[in-house]
Amino acid sequence: MHYVIREYRPADETSWLRCRVLSFLNTSYFDDVLKTKPETPAPGFGLVAAAEHGTVTGIIDIAVEDELATIDTVAVHPDHQHQGLGRALLAEARARVSALGVPMLDAWTRDDPDTLRWYRAMGFTESQHYLHVYASYYTDASEPDRAISERRAGLRPMAAFLHASLEGEQLMREQFARVHVCRRFTMDVL
Ligand SMILES: CC(C)(COP(=O)(O)OP(=O)(O)OC[C@H]1O[C@@H](n2cnc3c(N)ncnc32)[C@H](O)[C@@H]1OP(=O)(O)O)[C@@H](O)C(=O)NCCC(=O)NCCS
Repeated sequence: MHYVIREYRPADETSWLRCRVLSFLNTSYFDDVLKTKPETPAPGFGLVAAAEHGTVTGIIDIAVEDELATIDTVAVHPDHQHQGLGRALLAEARARVSALGVPMLDAWTRDDPDTLRWYRAMGFTESQHYLHVYASYYTDASEPDRAISERRAGLRPMAAFLHASLEGEQLMREQFARVHVCRRFTMDVL
C-alpha cells in the first residue's frame, strides 16, 4: 500500500485519533483514549503515515526537552501493522532528532510482548522500570479500599490508578488484578 510520511496537520486530527484508539485496542493501553490530539510544542514534532485520500495509518509524536527526545505516542493502525510503517516513522523521527543535536531518544511502555519485541528490534535498550497499578471495584470490590486506606466521607472509590516502585511488584500482583510494569527504552541518536 502506498503511503507518505509527513508532518501532522490539524486537518488530520480525527483520523489521527481513530488510528491511535484502534492501534491501542489490543494492548494494555486499551483504555487510554484521547478525544483531542495533544500539542507537540517545538522543537518537538508529530509525524504521520498518510495513505491515499489522507487517511492516517501511523503516527509518532516526539517531545523534546533539553538533551532528551521522548516518544509520546507511536501507533500503527491494526490493518497496516507489520508492513514497515512503524519502522519508517521511527527512522524519520530519529533523523529529525539527530538533526536537532539531541543525543538520546526514549520511550516508556508497558508489558505487551509484541510492542516490546518491536522496540528491541528497532535497537532500543531497556532500562528503568516501575509499576502501573489499577484498582477497580468491578474487578474485585475490595481493590479500591485496599489501595486507599483513608476514606473521605461521601466519596466511594470505584477505581484507582497508582504508580509504585518495582520492589513492590509481588505484593501488588497479589493484591490487585491489573498491574503493569512500565519500562523505559532508550536509544543513542548522535
Ligand atoms: C508497535 C508498532 C508501532 C509497530 O509498528 P509496525 O508498523 O507494526 O512495525 P513494523 O512493520 O515497522 O516492524 C518493524 C520490525 O519490527 C519487528 N517486529 C518484531 N515483532 C513485531 C511485532 N509483534 N510487531 C511489529 N513488529 C515486530 C519486525 O522484525 C519488523 O522488522 P522487519 O521490518 O524486518 O519485518 C505497532 O505494531 C503498533 O501500533 N502497536 C500497538 C500500539 C502500541 O503498542 N504502541 C506503543 C505504545 S508505547
